Amino acid sequence: MSKTFYIETFGCQMNAHDSEKVIGTLEHEGYSRVQDEADAGLILYNTCSIRDKAEQKVFHRLNEYKKLQGEGKKFAVIGCVAQQEGEKIFDKAPYVSLVSGSASYRNLPQMLARLEAGEQRITGLDDRQTDETFETPFVARTNPHRGYITIIEGCDKFCAYCVVPYTRGKERSRTANSVLDEAIRMADAGFTEIQLLGQNVNSYHDPSAKMTFAELLAAVGSIPGIRRVRFTTSHPRDFTKDIVDAIDAVPTLCDHVHLPVQSGSTNVLRAMAREYTRDWYLERISWIKAAKRNISITSDIIVGFPGETEEDLEQTATLLEEVGYDAIFAFKYSPRPNTPAINMADSIPEEVKVKRLQILLDRQRETQRLNYERHLGEVMELMVEGHNRQRNQVIGRSTQNKTVNFTTTQPILPATGSYVSVRITQTFPNSLLGEALAS
Ligand code: SAH
Ligand code: SF4
Ligand code: F3S
Repeated sequence: MSKTFYIETFGCQMNAHDSEKVIGTLEHEGYSRVQDEADAGLILYNTCSIRDKAEQKVFHRLNEYKKLQGEGKKFAVIGCVAQQEGEKIFDKAPYVSLVSGSASYRNLPQMLARLEAGEQRITGLDDRQTDETFETPFVARTNPHRGYITIIEGCDKFCAYCVVPYTRGKERSRTANSVLDEAIRMADAGFTEIQLLGQNVNSYHDPSAKMTFAELLAAVGSIPGIRRVRFTTSHPRDFTKDIVDAIDAVPTLCDHVHLPVQSGSTNVLRAMAREYTRDWYLERISWIKAAKRNISITSDIIVGFPGETEEDLEQTATLLEEVGYDAIFAFKYSPRPNTPAINMADSIPEEVKVKRLQILLDRQRETQRLNYERHLGEVMELMVEGHNRQRNQVIGRSTQNKTVNFTTTQPILPATGSYVSVRITQTFPNSLLGEALAS
């Protein structure tokens, strides 16, 4: 087997960052990455299984890879579908040699050695057994300015619809020292933005009992050289007021909290096993709104959960209006294997889900139009993310995580990763337009 690899990644930010660590580990083991699967000795597929028949899509894709098998290539399926389907993957796609969930990545070097020795069905399927996290100094970071740090892995919440507790194992945190060491190394390497990651990032529980999540946020935000700290995803159940206090106290902590509500109806929340009510959630929102800083709030929504009535949907719509989110990620409920909700009665027909989703998105669009309009004339600091040469615009991101396209009178466009002050000249429901201030 030639020591070259090709990797494709699906799913959430945690999966994307896992791939950065997997790539770093492979490179440390002497592999080199190629951009075309035809040139690779090893093809890895980092999978997601959160919605929409994800496993079927993976098998379909593996079928396409089948033709490459004769060329002596090896295949690895990793990530959430790997953990979920386990050894079934070998039965359906016998040319796959390695199947590993994220809770086993710390064993990758050993698994690779076995692969090189010609072993066939290698598995890393720790399921919910391990208390260990995947910590490695070998991270192939794809962005030189913004870096990710996973501070907590897994999930113990078991929402009725969700595969994550089964695919990512137990909730387990890294020590505050290990997180801070990595953040300091990143600051030294020139990163100015750090994003702390976890399926429920604020459920962070320092195994060394040195710091709370809010204290860790503040400590990362106080590292010299770090200008922005983000964290995602927060779970309402573990959202404490000291997180808001930390944002108020530490200027580098970004003005943004992603706090998925899933539904505005207490009945649906109960069926989903979210373990909070509408009012309880709104209390957390009131803390965020009472902050000195103008903190942007975003959310995830599921429509069409089994048993959801028109009245429940209206409750979600009114909650969206009451909170006034700056963005929502709304999904049609998708029945997933192994989850309790798959056996629930009163499933909602697909066409009703489609209709309900559209109702929410239309109402949300109006909220966002008004929210974004308030930025007209404001001067904000942006981190440059890229350039739209055709339009002669620069693409930037605000502390509130809003996208701003702007023009500049400077002959040289500001570099990616630099910070620029921009005045907002036009607003849309999803983005802003502006002009760089003369510096
Ligand atoms: N831990 C986070 C979310 C992780 S999954 C939280 O609890 O908020 C990301 C989003 O995918 C969820 O917020 C939810 O809105 C959506 N999701 C998860 N399972 C789903 C399913 N079975 N059908 C539709 N959407 C789902
Ligand atoms: Fe899934 Fe719920 Fe865990 Fe979020 S908290 S990852 S929705 S089980
Ligand atoms: Fe998908 Fe697994 Fe992330 S299911 S959303 S890759 S945790």
